[in-house]
Amino acid sequence: MKAVEVRGLRYRYPYSEEYVLKGVDLEISEGDFLLLAGASGSGKTTLARAIVGLIPQFYGGDYKGEVRVFDMDPASTPIYEVTEKVGFLFQNPENQIFMTTVERDIVFGMEFRGFPKRLMRERMTWVTNELDIARLLGRRTEDLSGGEKQLVALAGLLVLRPSLLILDEPSAYLSPSSAKTFLEILKRLNQEYGITIIVIDHRLDLLIRYVNRVAVIFDGSIALDVGVREALEYDLSKEYGVNMPVIAKLYRELRRRGVSCISPPLDVEELVSSVYR
Ligand SMILES: Nc1ncnc2c1ncn2[C@@H]1O[C@H](COP(=O)(O)OP(=O)(O)O)[C@@H](O)[C@H]1O
Ligand SMILES: [Mg+2]
Repeated sequence: MKAVEVRGLRYRYPYSEEYVLKGVDLEISEGDFLLLAGASGSGKTTLARAIVGLIPQFYGGDYKGEVRVFDMDPASTPIYEVTEKVGFLFQNPENQIFMTTVERDIVFGMEFRGFPKRLMRERMTWVTNELDIARLLGRRTEDLSGGEKQLVALAGLLVLRPSLLILDEPSAYLSPSSAKTFLEILKRLNQEYGITIIVIDHRLDLLIRYVNRVAVIFDGSIALDVGVREALEYDLSKEYGVNMPVIAKLYRELRRRGVSCISPPLDVEELVSSVYR
């Protein structure tokens, strides 16, 4: 089954003249780990809102086209139903933390849905181990750092056992090393639990080792949708404002000078061994 199917999606916010999405087509398979990239203001967050149904249900506006998420139509399915299958980590984790203590905040979504006590305890134990956040449970949410808030917000989504996670610029509030730790967690969730993941970011250099696909949104539609290796064949920085890994520039430069490489390399070792051969 497809996790997400978007067909001909056109969208304009209320009181705004311009269409942000001008015919987006995108299919995401179950198990994909997709980087959705694009310049600031290109419509990444808007597309994510449409996938969870906040657009059009919460934002209104002019909406044409079709979105399917695990065979639900997020335009008409109650948001609390969509968000059981689709966890959406907002661009600013502040907007996602509702309760005063970490433990209460994580439990909130399960309580709201009337989960039995025993199941709530099971899921809490599971997520505490999975994200290694035992030390945070008793803390006040207002005292957490940006990265800790993000982990807590992620925990609140994960206890519902979503099939799809959408993370809107998760590296924005993180140092490079905590961003890596965060991405390692996502990779494990993708591999061990088969959770389909969409990460919105403009940094392929950070995500190259984690994602399997790259989609780029430009001028209201998907300009490029390729496997992560193939993405290295393009100069995405010039046209689309995507930060490319140095390895991609090296690879293209070597090719330009007639050095053959078997396939685009994901890291230095791959480049060296393919050139050596
Ligand atoms: N609530 C809103 N009302 C009107 N316009 C909006 C709203 N949210 C975003 N926009 C506009 O839609 C365009 C795309 O925004 P957004 O989806 O946030 O881009 P990105 O996430 O790629 O930076 C921008 O021009 C932005 O100003
Ligand atoms: Mg955004």
